[in-house]
Amino acid sequence: MKSFSVERPIGAFDSGVGGLTVVQAMRELLPAEDILYLGDTARVPYGNKSPETIIRYSREIMTYLRANDVKAVVVACNTASAHALAILQKESDIPVIGVIVPGVEAALSTTRNKRIGIIGTQGTIQSDAYQSLLRRLQPGVVITAIPTPLLVSLVEEDWLSHKATHLILEEYLAPMKAAQVDTVVLACTHYPLLKPMVQRVLGPSVTLVDSAQNAAAALARELTSHGLNRPPGSHTAQITIRATDLPAQFARLAERFLGQEIKGIQQVAVG
Ligand code: DGL
Repeated sequence: MKSFSVERPIGAFDSGVGGLTVVQAMRELLPAEDILYLGDTARVPYGNKSPETIIRYSREIMTYLRANDVKAVVVACNTASAHALAILQKESDIPVIGVIVPGVEAALSTTRNKRIGIIGTQGTIQSDAYQSLLRRLQPGVVITAIPTPLLVSLVEEDWLSHKATHLILEEYLAPMKAAQVDTVVLACTHYPLLKPMVQRVLGPSVTLVDSAQNAAAALARELTSHGLNRPPGSHTAQITIRATDLPAQFARLAERFLGQEIKGIQQVAVG
């Protein structure tokens, strides 16, 4: 039976563990909210799949989360936000928040020279979702958008300060330096973990925009505007993590992304 109380959890999903960076930001900003997270580990990665496939996967996960009576959904995956967010919002009667609008708004309020860089998966960059929104909100903005697909594997490998990662970043980010961007959007769930090294490669004059923190802030505003937020301090929040497959390293990797010990991860089927 569906309930309409503010005590319902917030749903969040991603192609795998990466969206836990968004969950971590949600937990910091909204400590009283229960969260139900679904990682679609059986079908990861999303970054190199077609829009049609990502839309189908995202709809299936929405159905799963709705059946678990969530009060709002955060599409924590940049690729799913790029391809499926508008459709999910149209089809849903609860708030659905993506990571793109919050990231774009933060980038525009940060940049001084209107030269903005974006790094993300192949799918996110090819979708033009970030670029078209930036151009719409700030005509004349100069955008340098680079797909950086190797970074997801490097983060999952925990090569956060490895010299190979540094070299790859130097190569990927050279066009950002040449374009003199002053702001770079980390448009992928995994990239917040690479923040220190990206900052080192780009130098201190470039501001990095982390879509995880900005999506959490957008969620907080949305909950308030719908009267859906749970009063802070009223309850010790519970984070429930489910995944469509449980590969050997999943729990360890998930703990690294979330920054805390995780117990009782369950495997579930969607679709
Ligand atoms: N979660 C994806 C994203 O933010 C990265 C991993 C993948 O390709 O599935 O775009």
